[in-house]
Amino acid sequence: MSSNKNSDSHLSKFHRLLVDQVRHEFTASHQYVAVAAWFDDQDLPQLARVFYEQSLEERDHAMMIVRFLLDSDIHFAIPAVDEIETAFSAPRDLVALALRQEREVTDQFQRLAKVARDEDDYTGEQFLQWFIQEQTEEVAKMSTLLNVVDRAEGNLFDVETFVARDMPSEDNGSQGAPGTAGPSVS
Ligand SMILES: [Fe+2]
Ligand SMILES: [Fe+2]
Repeated sequence: MSSNKNSDSHLSKFHRLLVDQVRHEFTASHQYVAVAAWFDDQDLPQLARVFYEQSLEERDHAMMIVRFLLDSDIHFAIPAVDEIETAFSAPRDLVALALRQEREVTDQFQRLAKVARDEDDYTGEQFLQWFIQEQTEEVAKMSTLLNVVDRAEGNLFDVETFVARDMPSEDNGSQGAPGTAGPSVS
């Protein structure tokens, strides 16, 4: 690997932020594994399923950006993931964390869109459109789940029933989603 590959000084600000976003998406994926495993350990299989699946989606998001960077002939190194939270005490904490994380990612994409526009990067701006739309869905999903957890007032069987009925697995992929580097896993 050339030293150039490890330095991002040659990248536009937009491409530097995109590489950061690869890290954010892998971190989100990793965080959701921790959330899913906690629910799994608490014998809450429906909540565990939702977050195991969400973890795979986040991995795909990272790999969509990797595909885009490769196709754009951008030289970059795959980033390591950030620290994740693993010390949870109540189910609500995990769902609240998920909602917080999705809101942060939405802000990151808004910033990316602004930078793409500032740099007249029309290709980049267009690439972001699917992610911005996807974030609206993901924030809404976690916001609904948090409301349901609050309304259940500690009855996790009610939450599990809701999740089983109203949050089914989506195995047909998102329409118009950008391609991933390597196989898609969600
Ligand atoms: Fe994502
Ligand atoms: Fe997400």
